[in-house]
Amino acid sequence: MPAPTAPTATAEKTAASTGQRRDALTITDQRTGQTYEIPISNGTVRAIDLRQIKTEPTDFGLMAYDPAYMNTASCKSRITFIDGDKGILRYRGYPIEQLAEKCSYLEVSYLLLYGELPTRKQYEEWVHNITYHTMVHESLKKLMDTFNYDAHPMGMLISTVAAMSTFYPDGHNIHDPLSRAKQTYRLIAKMPTLAAFAYKHSMGMPYVYPDNDLSYAENFLNMLFGMPAARGYRPNATLVKALDVLFILHADHEQNCGTSVMRGIGSSHADPYSAVAGAAAALYGPLHGGANEEVLKMLAEIGSVSKVPAFIQEVKLGKGEKRLMGFGHRVYKNFDPRATIIKRMAEEVFAVTGRNPLLDIALELERIALQDDYFVKRKLYPNVDFYSGLIYQAIGIPTAAFTVLFAIPRTSGWIAQWQELLEDPEQKIARPRQVYLGPGERNFVPMEGR
Ligand code: CMC
Repeated sequence: MPAPTAPTATAEKTAASTGQRRDALTITDQRTGQTYEIPISNGTVRAIDLRQIKTEPTDFGLMAYDPAYMNTASCKSRITFIDGDKGILRYRGYPIEQLAEKCSYLEVSYLLLYGELPTRKQYEEWVHNITYHTMVHESLKKLMDTFNYDAHPMGMLISTVAAMSTFYPDGHNIHDPLSRAKQTYRLIAKMPTLAAFAYKHSMGMPYVYPDNDLSYAENFLNMLFGMPAARGYRPNATLVKALDVLFILHADHEQNCGTSVMRGIGSSHADPYSAVAGAAAALYGPLHGGANEEVLKMLAEIGSVSKVPAFIQEVKLGKGEKRLMGFGHRVYKNFDPRATIIKRMAEEVFAVTGRNPLLDIALELERIALQDDYFVKRKLYPNVDFYSGLIYQAIGIPTAAFTVLFAIPRTSGWIAQWQELLEDPEQKIARPRQVYLGPGERNFVPMEGR
């Protein structure tokens, strides 16, 4: 760590006047007059370098205060790149538009996990390994049976994924790459089975077991809509393709809330099932993956195109209390490239299923919001959740199950990020600091004296 320089240093001025460029930040502490030089690397300074900035030797040193991590990078990553101002999303360098058009979801999940697109041989092996891990333990099925008929599918998914850690105690061998690979197959393979079982349970219908002859998306639709009494069910090819593309678009999104939880739990060396359960719980929230469910509730509540202006007005007057769900993003400040792809794809789906009547309300909301000063000034654009729910609904998936459809593909991203964390020598157990503003030391007062 660099030592403090002399109080009068004018390093910046000197560097500028001599035309030299140094990758460093010069900070002058006005409390002491001391000047410090902090190295800049990859466009960041290390928060720990601030700790040398003290008013006296016993001082703890300066910390960075950043609620909600608005401007703090918590890791170095080579998985997903986002440029929020330009609306760019890439997995391992490949633009999301190309992957959505040319790949299958399992190809993309391999890319996220292993860093490169698979060769044919690698792909076949990968698909085989996923396909042959789709069954869940019969006791997990019994566990599913214990939920109330109206239990939320995300609650059931989170609980049963967490329960998987008790069925696979070898998952605790997180430092063994072979064991990690096995848990990876299990998690990616079994999430759709658990999700479909949760749906069937909520409908009071018999579970449909995985079918190894079907593709990943096809198998999921079969487990959702297949029936023992009507064995001829075959999912429509356009809907299978649409679902597969939706899986690709949701597979990873760098350090969002759920992924940060995955890394946070992973950093304590918990098993991956527990970490995925935690990440899924974060995803469940309406500001995160739960927004797709909220969008549909909102569209249904608005009810007709003529009521859109009044709803927009309510949002604006609500000052953040009432939000236009499916709008806005912490990172995207221009457009969300996933939303653009989904909006285009919606037409193909509706050509098969018939037009979702809520689409007109969504289009009108978008049209008005994109011209309205309130949304324009705050850079609020439709995000991934704005149109995805309309497609899920057209496919026949109930609103309460939408977030489950987000969690299935995000599992690949969570595991890729978890692996990266475990292999990163700079990472340790996640443990933020706080600014304590509570009372100073005070003496205990017995109950009679309070
Ligand atoms: N509708 C109305 N106003 C909004 C919205 C919205 N959807 N989003 C943000 N604002 C306003 C907010 O009230 C604030 O206004 P002001 O400056 O006057 O206080 C300003 O815009 C900035 O909002 P913020 O809450 O500070 O922004 P953030 O970056 O912390 O939040 C967000 C990002 C996604 C949580 C937020 O935009 C939001 O709540 N959107 C609705 C929920 C949603 O669609 N979530 C899905 C996100 S994409 C998928 C995913 O992450 O899983």
